[in-house]
Amino acid sequence: MQISRNFMVIGVAYLVLGIVLGMYMGGSGDHSLAPLHAHINLLGFTLMTVFGLVYRVIPAMAATSLARAHFWLHLAGSVILLIMLSMLLTGRITEAGMPPLAPLAELLVLLGVASFAHNVWRNA
Ligand code: HEM
Ligand code: HEM
Repeated sequence: MQISRNFMVIGVAYLVLGIVLGMYMGGSGDHSLAPLHAHINLLGFTLMTVFGLVYRVIPAMAATSLARAHFWLHLAGSVILLIMLSMLLTGRITEAGMPPLAPLAELLVLLGVASFAHNVWRNA
């Protein structure tokens, strides 16, 4: 699996989604989804693109199981978290409906980042 490419391909898909949402907010004047827009662009595009570039620049990091774990943890965590956030902001669920799934998704993202950090310390 090409970790670097995978991070960048998913990242740019998040960017397209984030920009479309930003344009919708700008056009409609309804900014209630701004936190969702921000995190699609930042947790999705920005972070995944930075990760993809790091794995491209340092191939020793990409060739590890830590990198594969990082990719799947970040992908699963970010998708679940952003779906939960969109449901919260559109009133489909309340704050009380966020646990246990949202904290679990945050933990997945954090574990992915911990794998990345460990990989940086070991191989960068
Ligand atoms: C054509 C592209 C984009 C459009 C039309 C757009 C539009 C918007 C709009 C309408 C808001 C709400 C502003 C407000 O309520 O004060 C916003 C907020 C924001 N945008 Fe964008 N945006 C775009 C691209 C991006 C990108 C590429 C990023 C990051 C990489 C980004 C990050 C943010 C952040 C961090 C906020 C603040 C969110 C918040 O206050 O909760 N945006 N954007
Ligand atoms: C699991 C990961 C993350 C969680 C759980 C999280 C959670 C939050 C929460 C609860 C807020 C406050 C929202 C509000 O007041 O409406 C926030 C705001 C923000 N976050 Fe995150 N965040 C995460 C990752 C990130 C990342 C990776 C970035 C940047 C690369 C980021 C950038 C921001 C920014 C710029 C704001 C301020 C938006 C604004 O209110 O204008 N977040 N985040």
